[in-house]
Amino acid sequence: MTDAAEDNPVIRFERVSLSFPASGSVLEDVSFTVARGDTKVLLGESGSGKTVLMKLAMGLLRPTRGQVWLLGHEVSRMRERELFDLRRSIGMTFQESALFDSLSVRENIAFRLIEEGQLSEEQIDERVRTCLRFVGLESAIDKMPAELSGGMRHRVSIARALATSPEVMLYDSPTGGLDPETATTIVDLVIKLRDLNHVTALLATHRLQDGYLLATRAWDDAQESVRAVPLGAGRTSFLLLRDGRVWFDGSAAELLASHDEYLRNYLNWGPRLPPPPPEGGDVRPQG
Ligand SMILES: Nc1ncnc2c1ncn2[C@@H]1O[C@H](COP(=O)(O)OP(=O)(O)OP(=O)(O)O)[C@@H](O)[C@H]1O
Ligand SMILES: [Mg+2]
Repeated sequence: MTDAAEDNPVIRFERVSLSFPASGSVLEDVSFTVARGDTKVLLGESGSGKTVLMKLAMGLLRPTRGQVWLLGHEVSRMRERELFDLRRSIGMTFQESALFDSLSVRENIAFRLIEEGQLSEEQIDERVRTCLRFVGLESAIDKMPAELSGGMRHRVSIARALATSPEVMLYDSPTGGLDPETATTIVDLVIKLRDLNHVTALLATHRLQDGYLLATRAWDDAQESVRAVPLGAGRTSFLLLRDGRVWFDGSAAELLASHDEYLRNYLNWGPRLPPPPPEGGDVRPQG
């Protein structure tokens, strides 16, 4: 592979295993990479290890074996203080949004910037507004989290993760519990960040449609909206975890064309996928 981006993946897991004393092994021999500007969709049943994998990427957990690399740093060996600096470059949205309920939207987003103490009050305010504008919620700046709908909470949590202009985003189930339309607006934000800001990302989801949209849509700057692209042109790949092991790692076309029985069953849970656009060719599983 000659592509420099392929040689220097932004995220790299190298034979990572993790066990907890109480629950035993939760990840086993997990290896994968994410190239700069790509998004990897994490699929897998509840308890398969998606959240744990993201926490390892952020250095919130340390592997029992193996190495985790992020932006050229071996996260799995870094001290807490070095991690604090690196985390400026990583934004994470947690499952259930995890906003601070006693802080306003403005304070939630400004929190990390205030903690870092590098920007003036006006600069922080400007940054908060920019992040909220990005997710289309500037008008909610003075609201409290309890006054927001689920979809708005997810958008605020994305805005909060964007406060430090991260190069890497870790989205843990950003569409969980949302209606399909609201979920699509969240995915479109992820696409916008991927294609406009070249953010590298992991995105955990139970909704296959999220992955499908990511793989078949791209941000159109002229139109200021997403547009359909051939399957695979949306810079997205897929990783399916099964009981803490990588069961599948590949492109959307490979995922849809797979004849693996477990994978086929998984793909047919819930609503069926929409048909791929014609440019994508006939790559759906037969039968
Ligand atoms: N701090 C912890 N201590 C012990 N076991 C843990 C801890 N965190 C997670 N686990 C276990 O690790 C496994 C993977 O959990 P994880 O939260 O990563 O699943 P998930 O794929 O994110 O599930 P979901 O789709 O429900 O979010 C589970 O069996 C869980 O009980
Ligand atoms: Mg989870």
